[in-house]
Amino acid sequence: MTIKKTKEPAFHITGKTGWINDPNGLIYYNGKYHAFFQHNPYDTKWGPMHWGHVVSDDLTNWQYLPNALVPGDDGDKNGCFSGSAIVYGGKLWLLYTGFTENQGGDSIRQLQCLAESDDGITFKKHGIVIGEKDLPEGYAPADFRDPKIWRHDDCFWCIVAARRIDGRGRILLYKSADLFKWEFVGDLFGKDSPGIMIECPDYNEELGYLLYCEQFQPSENGVHLNVHTCRYAIGKIDYAAGKFIESSRGIVDYGFDMYAPQTFTGRNMIMGWLNMWDRNVPSEKYGFSGMLTVPRKVSVVDGRLYQEPLVSCTEAYKTEVNGKLLDNVKRGVITVKTTGLEALEMKMRADGENYTTLTLQNGEWVFDRSKSGEAIVGVEKDADSLSGIRRMPCSDKKDITLTIVMDDFSVEIFEDGRSLTSTIYPPDAADGLELTVKAKNCQYERADIILRA
Ligand code: FRU
Repeated sequence: MTIKKTKEPAFHITGKTGWINDPNGLIYYNGKYHAFFQHNPYDTKWGPMHWGHVVSDDLTNWQYLPNALVPGDDGDKNGCFSGSAIVYGGKLWLLYTGFTENQGGDSIRQLQCLAESDDGITFKKHGIVIGEKDLPEGYAPADFRDPKIWRHDDCFWCIVAARRIDGRGRILLYKSADLFKWEFVGDLFGKDSPGIMIECPDYNEELGYLLYCEQFQPSENGVHLNVHTCRYAIGKIDYAAGKFIESSRGIVDYGFDMYAPQTFTGRNMIMGWLNMWDRNVPSEKYGFSGMLTVPRKVSVVDGRLYQEPLVSCTEAYKTEVNGKLLDNVKRGVITVKTTGLEALEMKMRADGENYTTLTLQNGEWVFDRSKSGEAIVGVEKDADSLSGIRRMPCSDKKDITLTIVMDDFSVEIFEDGRSLTSTIYPPDAADGLELTVKAKNCQYERADIILRA
């Protein structure tokens, strides 16, 4: 199928044409940032997974390269699923999941494969390096995926999402001296996750956190409303015991659309998939489905994951706000700095009956995309989800700074390190911004994204 693309976001990574899901192999290599991603070039729906590939030197302008991994070989006959990258001996190595469908169900095989490259563009596959025989007794080779690799104490380590036969999600730790032979070390949590399966586990040794997603996870009395949820757990891996020692936890994002975040290997930066499973994607008719979030600097502050957007932009407009401000903006970074904030309401991408709102209500940010434009329908049946609403706690600090990264089909909202990420599909003409604030002081800034031709 040839896909004709008629629209695209200005600075968010898409599959160019076709489908995109998880970011993969995020790394800095040979002077450039590399982002790979789950990609179906043949359709705007999920299908035979390739690894699409983009590079950048400013984390904002991305150049498309040929697909890095194409399925069809031994071990990855029906797909090259998610994985990660590491630089070793001057080469770029990819550890990813080879998907073989067989007759479906229990006969599916998801096993970990290795590929290497001398130039970061063309990859040579080595086939399966963590196979069925390397799975401990009682774990399902049909649900074993998404290896995340790093180096520690002169060894390679990786974590892989897994499932006990007749059980739920687990995260397994493996160790290798040479990237080719891997040894099972431990089951990080040692118990089933509430979600039916864990996906895309990720570990940042320096900051001490684990990220992972759970599929079909009960909402835990509204802690999160997306049935597919991204979590972080702050803590450290005990390498000798093969266990994760956790000190606190939370959800990675409060919006509708962030999944499978991955940390750049060796850098305190993440990107996620800016979309969600089990929802319609209105942009299919424009020839693309899904995007990646902008890169985000991460840190751990007071036991929580703290995110700040990394986009290259330049100040375009700055003003004090007394009560109300009107502006026009479709793309850019909006910053609202306040002291003594009492009330705030922001309408974005407004045009007549269409607008997206963010309102401060009883100590939380309430995001509403019910009038944003084209409807997005998911599987979530709670009142907020059915009304297009997501909520994020507002910090109790004296000075509150709100940062919003806006592109044609998304808003990424940040406040005190928390993020609320959502797709929106408003009409092209919708560029009205209306800010109503009650605060001691309020400063509004709009920055333009620095886009190269
Ligand atoms: C997560 C995921 C991964 C898998 C990939 C397949 O979104 O389901 O577990 O590797 O997508 O595209």
